[in-house]
Amino acid sequence: MTAQQTPAPGADAHTASRPGGLQPILEARAVTKHYAMPGETVDAVRGVSFAVMPGEFVALMGPSGSGKSTLLQVLGGLDQPSEGEVFIEGEPISRLNDSQATKLRRDRTGFVFQSFNLVPLLDVTENVALPFTIAGQDPKSAELSARIKEVIASVELTGKERHKPDQLSAGEQQRVAVARAMVTRPALLFADEPTGNLDFTTGLDILNALWRACVDRGQTVVLVTHDAKAAAYADRVFVIEDGRVLDEIYLGRREDHAAAPLIGRLAQLGL
Ligand SMILES: Nc1ncnc2c1ncn2[C@@H]1O[C@H](COP(=O)(O)OP(=O)(O)OP(=O)(O)O)[C@@H](O)[C@H]1O
Ligand SMILES: [Mg+2]
Repeated sequence: MTAQQTPAPGADAHTASRPGGLQPILEARAVTKHYAMPGETVDAVRGVSFAVMPGEFVALMGPSGSGKSTLLQVLGGLDQPSEGEVFIEGEPISRLNDSQATKLRRDRTGFVFQSFNLVPLLDVTENVALPFTIAGQDPKSAELSARIKEVIASVELTGKERHKPDQLSAGEQQRVAVARAMVTRPALLFADEPTGNLDFTTGLDILNALWRACVDRGQTVVLVTHDAKAAAYADRVFVIEDGRVLDEIYLGRREDHAAAPLIGRLAQLGL
């Protein structure tokens, strides 16, 4: 079965605005993304449709160059699709003007990237405070400084508040990036290979932080990875190949995050 041909079980629950029904927090409808290059067009994403329900943890898994990052950028409103539409909480994001799009990204989404993207001159607290600073809010106000403290504690960095990025390990730097993505309490957390620059054990801390965001705080997580052990944290895995959803694998919520069921299913698909 391919995700394009056959609706997923319960797919009708994914239709936006069903009376009394749950609305997807994120939906892609026939999304494509082309890049025009001299003498050629790169079809990075080719007709992707799926819906993510509030509080789900989903993974987009596929090989290098399969279009995962491009898809994530489009899903998160960092880039526009060439065709198709992305809906966040039922809002078609291409129809938002620039300031509405900025507000939606700022208030509803958080991003974590492979390369941490911290500001080298700022310490941990200041890096985590950045979304507030950028929005013109005072991170030293009682409410915001309490939130910053709390999120730093949640990624177990209490005591390192005054450290600059170059005074932290790689895993600690990525935990700062996770804290920064979570501090505004966004409904949707997007993470693109967040463990890609980390060793296995350190990577687990990051995956566990995303898992806690989902399980304890009900945040929806969209994780891009090429690694089945990371994807096994998800409730559902979309297998991406050549810009398409090749298959959708339902794992369910599992405290043990065992990768064997996913690896078994991928083997059946010849992956
Ligand atoms: N800005 C761009 N301009 C032109 N082509 C691009 C651009 N960004 C990505 N591509 C191409 O689009 C395709 C998908 O790239 P993308 O970065 O989405 O893949 P990926 O699955 O994230 O790969 P990786 O696992 O290596 O990060 C690739 O062929 C890539 O070369
Ligand atoms: Mg990528």
